[in-house]
Amino acid sequence: MLRAENLFKTFGAFQVTKGVSLEIPTGLRHAIIGPNGAGKTTLFNILAGELKPDEGRILIDGQDVTSFAPDRRARRGLSRSFQKNNLFLSGTVRDNLMVADIVARGYGSHFWTRLSDNRRAREKTSAVAEQVGLAELLDRGVSELSYGAQRQLEVGLALMPDPKVLLLDEPTSGMSPEETGRMLQLIDDLPRDLAVLLIEHDMDLVFSHADRITVLNYGEILMEGTPQEVRGSDIVQETYLGGKAQ
Ligand SMILES: Nc1ncnc2c1ncn2[C@@H]1O[C@H](COP(=O)(O)OP(=O)(O)O)[C@@H](O)[C@H]1O
Ligand SMILES: [Mg+2]
Repeated sequence: MLRAENLFKTFGAFQVTKGVSLEIPTGLRHAIIGPNGAGKTTLFNILAGELKPDEGRILIDGQDVTSFAPDRRARRGLSRSFQKNNLFLSGTVRDNLMVADIVARGYGSHFWTRLSDNRRAREKTSAVAEQVGLAELLDRGVSELSYGAQRQLEVGLALMPDPKVLLLDEPTSGMSPEETGRMLQLIDDLPRDLAVLLIEHDMDLVFSHADRITVLNYGEILMEGTPQEVRGSDIVQETYLGGKAQ
């Protein structure tokens, strides 16, 4: 569903992405882990089209989208959430989801001009709120939500365009253990035809939630495998877990 081939990116003299390749089949839960500064967010920015790679190709469902802008990639089925909060704080949960629907459909062109569109948007909004555990909070102001619920809403915004691939950048960052558990459960429960690529810097967290794991270190893939393979790998143990209390 998503394929990255040999991506390179340099900022000035600093090589931040060094030949990264990935292949994410339909429905897979794939985690990217690695220490701070490893180039995880940069990789997402390249995949989503916010940054242009110096080299390499990106394909969505077989189509080369390397030259596509983010909105065009989104229409091909790629959606992302951000590491930093991206919500419209003065609105309700419903307002935020409805705005995401307008954005997903392209401003202006057919902005709920028909009653049926408005109904479809409302139904979609309710369905997504349910998926991210916010069905009871649809009319709540976003600024009144707990931090964890705000982050759940961000995942909801990314689900509004009906993506085939969802990129989540540290969806559990800054969360309490309870909020983290809820978020990981929510990700587990997303539809099985949706591929999820998830950045997480705490590798223990993803061991029981990912089908595959890519370990990124200094812009390079240190290894890729099943959680079991990654956990058992000497090179990962030495380079990444070394010194870390288990
Ligand atoms: N726009 C940029 N210009 C220059 N350096 C950048 C830019 N964005 C990120 N970097 C650098 O690239 C490295 C990787 O950053 P990032 O992709 O955010 O890592 P991660 O998400 O794994 O913590 C860091 O050293 C960061 O300072
Ligand atoms: Mg990051």
